[in-house]
Amino acid sequence: MSYPPISYDPSAARVLIDDSTWNELGPSLLKARDEVFADIELMHSGSIPDEKKPLDAGFIDLPQRLLAGEANLLDQIEESAANFAEQVDRMVLLGIGGSYMGLRALFEALCDRYHNELPRHARNEIPRLSFEGDNLDNDAQRSLLKLLMNESTNSSELSDRWGIVVISKSGGTLETASAFRTYRNALERFYGAGAPETTELVIPITGETGKLRDLSNAIGYPVTFPIPDGVGGRFSVFTAVGLYPAAVLGIDIRLMLQGAADVTEAFRTGELGTNPILDYVATCHLLERDHGMDLRVLSTWGKGLEAAGLWYDQLLAESLGKHERGATPLTVVNTRDLHSRGQQHQEGKRDRVITNLIVDTTTSATLQLPKSEHDQDQLNRIAGKLIPEMMSAAIQGTNEAYASDRRPTADIHLPKLDAYSMGQLLQMFMLGTVLEGRLVGTNPYGQPGVEGYKNAMGRILYGS
Ligand code: PA5
Repeated sequence: MSYPPISYDPSAARVLIDDSTWNELGPSLLKARDEVFADIELMHSGSIPDEKKPLDAGFIDLPQRLLAGEANLLDQIEESAANFAEQVDRMVLLGIGGSYMGLRALFEALCDRYHNELPRHARNEIPRLSFEGDNLDNDAQRSLLKLLMNESTNSSELSDRWGIVVISKSGGTLETASAFRTYRNALERFYGAGAPETTELVIPITGETGKLRDLSNAIGYPVTFPIPDGVGGRFSVFTAVGLYPAAVLGIDIRLMLQGAADVTEAFRTGELGTNPILDYVATCHLLERDHGMDLRVLSTWGKGLEAAGLWYDQLLAESLGKHERGATPLTVVNTRDLHSRGQQHQEGKRDRVITNLIVDTTTSATLQLPKSEHDQDQLNRIAGKLIPEMMSAAIQGTNEAYASDRRPTADIHLPKLDAYSMGQLLQMFMLGTVLEGRLVGTNPYGQPGVEGYKNAMGRILYGS
């Protein structure tokens, strides 16, 4: 079965970019693309020159490798995830940054908006999901403990049972590690110290070495999954980091990986002008270089893609925000934010390029605006219109309004919101970010700037 590809239309932004400028960029872009793919070989060769370090190019061909059966990982993930989903009605997912934002993007895009509120049978027997370990917020941690204490009183009732998926590549991230202690204790109180569930219903996902790996070995958790070396945190959504909890949520992880693999191949072979990733980077780069537009607004149309936007915020900011350079990402959700940020997009500084993220078809049956005998709101003139028609009018109208003042927009279209499209979208953004890094000479891997606060916090907390 073939699935429709993601597409990118920069035509409305191209009015600010003349053809010769666009074409002149071509050779450097293709050179940068060659470097992106050559990096995979370089990394696997094991002899990485210093100027290339760190090099975390392992995410690029990971979808193909997993689909080809590498280490039988997909089978293992699916089997363990199905077992976990059968045994609990709530997955508490502990992680921060790249260790949870990808899964949050998948959850919000692909699961019912009110998933956690639905009864289990209406959730297709899929556990509810709660996030923690992504902050040092006392009240938030307490709230989840309170919820667990109130909802989970009988450990032999499936509806009360919960388990932990703890994710940290380094294993040393304070937010996640400290939350893991807290929720591990809560799990022991619920099932009883020494009960098999206190180890069987904890799934650590971590690097081959590190504090969480050591802890997992010491406690003896029967199932753990690795985060491979050579795949950085924010590029790890297609490792067990995203795949395991996604499989617990019933997401078709093979289809998602197929989307990612297909977009990688299209990127490798397509020409500038018909290659969504090359075109996306060319448009954003030229508008930044030649027009100073260094604010990248990702304008998601609909509620399900907000977390994908926040995931992208992290990806772009941590990858290219270096050496006093790099565009600033900003996610908005429309039509909601037309009522908050819309004014500034229309009449504020000319410092931004707006990329619309548009889903072409709805997931559920379309709603129609009903006719009413009380027409004081004067909506009877459009009664019978479908909500998606109104959304299309909003997208078209907003683009027209921006275009009338030469404010650049471009459109990414997802044929629908499914696992295949999400695989394409996330891989497109990861490849695009790495491509742009190579184009402008910024190493997209690593996040040395994050160490600054960690060191200072460590001195304050531990005195060393
Ligand atoms: O991209 C990254 O590497 C970071 O955002 C990490 O994902 C984040 O800091 C969490 O790190 P860890 O998974 O080691 O706990």
